[in-house]
Amino acid sequence: MADSAIERASHSDVVNQIAPVPRISIQAFCESAEVAEVIESAAADRRMSKAHVKVHMGGVPAAIEAYRTAPTPNLIVLETYSERGTLVDQLDSLSEFCDAGTKVMVIGHENDISLYRELTMRGVSDYVVAPIDILGFIGQVSHLYNGTSAEVLGRVIAVVGAKGGVGASTVAHNIAWSISRLLEYQTVIVDLDLPFGTAGLDFNQDPPQGVADAVFAPERLDANFVDRLLSKCSDTLSILAAPATVDRLYDLPEQAFDATLDILRSTVPCAVLDVPHQWTAWSKRVLVAADEVVIVAAPDLANLRNTKTIIDSLRASRANDHPPRVVLNMVGVPRRPEISLSEFTKAIEVDPFGVVPFEPKLFGTAANNGQMLAEVEAGSKIVETLDDIGRALMGRVTSRRVKKTLLTPLLERLSRKKAG
Ligand SMILES: Nc1ncnc2c1ncn2[C@@H]1O[C@H](COP(=O)(O)OP(=O)(O)OP(=O)(O)O)[C@@H](O)[C@H]1O
Ligand SMILES: [Mg+2]
Repeated sequence: MADSAIERASHSDVVNQIAPVPRISIQAFCESAEVAEVIESAAADRRMSKAHVKVHMGGVPAAIEAYRTAPTPNLIVLETYSERGTLVDQLDSLSEFCDAGTKVMVIGHENDISLYRELTMRGVSDYVVAPIDILGFIGQVSHLYNGTSAEVLGRVIAVVGAKGGVGASTVAHNIAWSISRLLEYQTVIVDLDLPFGTAGLDFNQDPPQGVADAVFAPERLDANFVDRLLSKCSDTLSILAAPATVDRLYDLPEQAFDATLDILRSTVPCAVLDVPHQWTAWSKRVLVAADEVVIVAAPDLANLRNTKTIIDSLRASRANDHPPRVVLNMVGVPRRPEISLSEFTKAIEVDPFGVVPFEPKLFGTAANNGQMLAEVEAGSKIVETLDDIGRALMGRVTSRRVKKTLLTPLLERLSRKKAG
């Protein structure tokens, strides 16, 4: 079952990642209810949470009327049914009122490459043919503002426990390790458990303040500053460690990590966030904004209830994303009654992405030595499971079953192509 959830992920939107749209103002002037609805829904998506979007009806004429007296936003989106001549005249009139720096996207109903060329020559940034869909529209806007950097964008994976102590940090650190080692992606673990985080301990490092400096010195924050806060665990893995002290209190504002995560997303291919088990404005915001959310849960009733409530909340706030991935951990504690995998799955309505057994010797050794599981027991089944989860979260899937067939080289090449 775990494999099938992972396999399905390879065919989902894992690969088609869209960079969040920056803090811009967008005004749309639509002619059809369908396009207006899509843009309204797009405005509610997590990738547009920073943008300020207003949707009006009335098409290009309404825009001309509006901007006669008002300044223009960063982006004007115009839906039109007009034929070419009228449209060009209308755009000419509009351009008289456009402030420098304003971009214009036209959504037309004619699939005509010469019209596209003519409009772009006249300064229109993009011509899109209706019907449009939510993620397609966000992708176009994102591309206008992120340009090619949208393609080398980092993936943010948030890992949270359904309860305290269920192994969320251990799973987060080992997945990050897998991603950095197997896929050779530069990966950063961000320890968001400021008072009690264990990333430093787990990697046997005694790092500087790390994430606290990033949060408490927002005015100094840029890519170089964040780079200096990282402590290196290997050629491809670094941690942005928690201070792990209780000298100060950490009542953080909702947007505490926005800037740090924006920087990481634009500078490293993968950031794994170790999110503590709590529900605050900032922790929810971090989960909502992540590209992938992983909930680590143990097979008991409280974990089940919490997993379900977190999934429900995130489903509502992430309507255009797949539901969070669930990893069942500490399965099979001797003499402990458990909720079975099938019952758990049925209740949360999500196939677990991975099932990790309770292995106190392996996990205890790793934890006490400051090592990763793979360093203690390379090639164990648990390490393989975590490797598979890491690959799947990055959209790189080679299941063990596929690996053994003669088609492997071909399939790998195809999946690389798809992912690439
Ligand atoms: N599958 C497992 N089998 C045995 N021990 C485990 C397993 N997973 C995690 N552990 C151990 O459980 C302990 C708690 O793990 P961890 O700190 O990762 O949990 P957490 O959910 O991050 O906790 P917290 O809520 O305090 O942040 C650690 O000692 C870890 O080694
Ligand atoms: Mg933890």
